[in-house]
Amino acid sequence: MSPSAILPDLALPPTNPESALTTATAPAASPSPSLFSLAHKTTIITGAGRGLGITLAAAVLEAGGHVACIDILPSPSEPDWSALLALAKPAHLTCTYHHCDITNEPALAAVFAEIAAGAERAGSVFWGAVACAGIQQKIPALEYPAADFERILRVNVVGTFLTAKLAAGVMRERGVRGSVVMIASMSGQVANRGLTCTAYNTSKAAVHQMCRSVAQEWGQYGIRVNTISPGYIRTAMTDDLLKAEPEVEKIWMAGALLGRLGAPEDFKAPAVFLLSEGSAFMTGADLRVDGGHCASA
Ligand SMILES: NC(=O)c1ccc[n+]([C@@H]2O[C@H](COP(=O)([O-])OP(=O)(O)OC[C@H]3O[C@@H](n4cnc5c(N)ncnc54)[C@H](O)[C@@H]3O)[C@@H](O)[C@H]2O)c1
Repeated sequence: MSPSAILPDLALPPTNPESALTTATAPAASPSPSLFSLAHKTTIITGAGRGLGITLAAAVLEAGGHVACIDILPSPSEPDWSALLALAKPAHLTCTYHHCDITNEPALAAVFAEIAAGAERAGSVFWGAVACAGIQQKIPALEYPAADFERILRVNVVGTFLTAKLAAGVMRERGVRGSVVMIASMSGQVANRGLTCTAYNTSKAAVHQMCRSVAQEWGQYGIRVNTISPGYIRTAMTDDLLKAEPEVEKIWMAGALLGRLGAPEDFKAPAVFLLSEGSAFMTGADLRVDGGHCASA
């Protein structure tokens, strides 16, 4: 698949970039549905080749926004990708796929520049990013090889940082008061029973602190940064683990106050909320969406 735009030439509805640029005004003056709209805005989502990321790409399109998906997978998973295009086309929205490793800064910067230029050509505002790409590995801490530990930190921490840094760079250059959402995890706050994932947990705690740190630096530009901390979600990441160790599901379900594990769709509204004007007074914060897991011991 070509790394460039899938739907590059679709005519867009008339845009009002001025209104898309303003978040400094009190959002209370807007009716609630428009507070959740991403119309005329382009959002990048990393890790959007499958799983949670591709579901969040659908959420952006459903909220009226353009979406650019980045992933290390050579092509996005089917049938999810075809479903995304089917959402985008009739709504005259752009949905593009870019094959890239988020830890490769020059390559990622080139992809961001391409997406930002495409947004400009289409008359939409480069609005921000959801840093969703991440990896997981289960090894007991006493046996954890340093190289594996470093690989987890490189993708989950450095990759998330580069995504946020590049998005904020474009926004600051263009005077856009946009939003960055980092997908952290409840594992950044608690150590999961039955899971020997010290590197992963460490990486997600780092994402929480990274969020607060860059929010503190970028608030002056009107750029907001928040994290979402999911609980257990059924995706390819957890399916592999549960296949290898089915008994782990019992441990997870013991903390599931709503009687189920999460689905990627559970994170659509939280992500759209954090991206949109509805959360205009929220930055440096974490939104935990875990089915109550962390609420009981
Ligand atoms: N599944 C869960 O239970 C769960 C819980 C809490 C947090 N999360 C977080 O949610 C995010 C998405 O996880 P998921 O469950 O959809 O997993 P997933 O493995 O299905 O998706 C992760 C995506 O990231 C991509 N990716 C990995 N390394 C990359 C790199 N270097 N460059 C670009 N893309 C890369 C993968 O190719 C994959 O498409 C991750 O950050 C994960 O840590 C997941």
